[in-house]
Amino acid sequence: MKIAVIGSGGREHAIVYALSKSKQVESIYAIPGNDAMKALATCVPVENNNLDEMVKICQEKKVDLVVIGPEGPLTQGITDCLQAVGIPVFGPNKKAAQLEGSKAFAKALMKKYGIPTAAYGVFTDLESAKKYILKQGAPIVIKADGLAAGKGVVVAQTTTEAIQAVSRMLAEKEFGAAGVKVVIEECMEGEEVSVLSFVDGTQVVPLISAQDHKRIFDHDKGPNTGGMGAYAPAPILTVDLMKLVKERILYPTLQALHQEGITYRGCLYAGLMITKEGPKVVEFNCRFGDPETQAILPLLTGDLAQIMYDCAVGTVDAKQVTWQKGAACCVMMASSGYPATSHKGDVIHGLNEIHDVLVFHSGTKKKEQTFVTNGGRVIGVTATGMDLKEAVIKAYQAVDKINFAGMQYRKDIAYKGLQHLTKKDLF
Ligand code: AMP
Ligand code: GLY
Repeated sequence: MKIAVIGSGGREHAIVYALSKSKQVESIYAIPGNDAMKALATCVPVENNNLDEMVKICQEKKVDLVVIGPEGPLTQGITDCLQAVGIPVFGPNKKAAQLEGSKAFAKALMKKYGIPTAAYGVFTDLESAKKYILKQGAPIVIKADGLAAGKGVVVAQTTTEAIQAVSRMLAEKEFGAAGVKVVIEECMEGEEVSVLSFVDGTQVVPLISAQDHKRIFDHDKGPNTGGMGAYAPAPILTVDLMKLVKERILYPTLQALHQEGITYRGCLYAGLMITKEGPKVVEFNCRFGDPETQAILPLLTGDLAQIMYDCAVGTVDAKQVTWQKGAACCVMMASSGYPATSHKGDVIHGLNEIHDVLVFHSGTKKKEQTFVTNGGRVIGVTATGMDLKEAVIKAYQAVDKINFAGMQYRKDIAYKGLQHLTKKDLF
């Protein structure tokens, strides 16, 4: 099989790595990829993420399957363009990708089909939005409708903060077109967990669960980031809870889309809050999560190329989705100034001194023979272990050997998972 992977970050590096383990895979093209992926794939540059050019490259390389990493090309309809020229795609089409591309679309679908999520209102007019906020009270959550690179959500602790956020979006057009509509939501309480699934149009096969760490500082302090680390599986999602998630959220969502005449193929990412009333949807993403994927895929023993191809053509087989026992922990290392800014060109030392871990590159560049920082999130260090504790220890032993100017990383990745396990006396 010849496979093209669209994207250039740590998530795509983890996907390329997992695909490279498949005996069926003869070549991998990463479009545009990154310098670290060159060890596993042929990287093909593309100007300004131009969709037509990406499609042309896939045609020229005669690929059997295209895997789309990021949400941008999915919401712009790259899947539709590839399918139109007869290439199987792992990733939803433009209509299905609205599940992530428009929060108002996702909320309306959930409301119509009774899928558990926070109560909400949708507004384009500032005065009505303010009235709603004052009526509901705080805490309350304000969300830009469209894609805002993970920055479009404000969990407001006071009505003043909520009104400021909604004014920035609706009056000052903080997020441009993505924020001309806002979703205002009830603030849910509970612990968050990410459930990613392989979807082939009719079947949903969940991957092992994972937990992200969105804030920059330890113990969930400081501003939100793209994700500072992840671990898998997340013990909060017990077998019983996973059953509920499948019955009340995943299958009903697929059926709801089907009723609306929409076919979903690819990865469906459900960001969930485990509330006192049970699991509820915080958000849907139409692609693999980052950094969750960097923790999940190293534990997959099934053949990712086969599974993705089967999703693309509508024949996924749950029996193929098999996992190694144990757990994985991914610690993200970010550059100086992140998340407000990032710092480029700092030499990353120690990469040759670490063993028995995987390093996926998010924002690096090769300069002569060394890697230097080239973005906010720089590298993700993933270790697997017989249990979560072993995975965490191994990941941090490797992180300790890596060094670059201004590096930032959290020292508490997986702490919630470890607490759950301690409570159950598993250690
Ligand atoms: P989203 O981009 O929708 O996932 O939101 C980003 C983060 O904001 C989530 O991971 C949650 O931590 C938080 N959040 C979003 N919606 C809610 C909600 N309704 N209640 C509580 N927290 C929320
Ligand atoms: N880890 C959150 C995301 O991928 O959106």
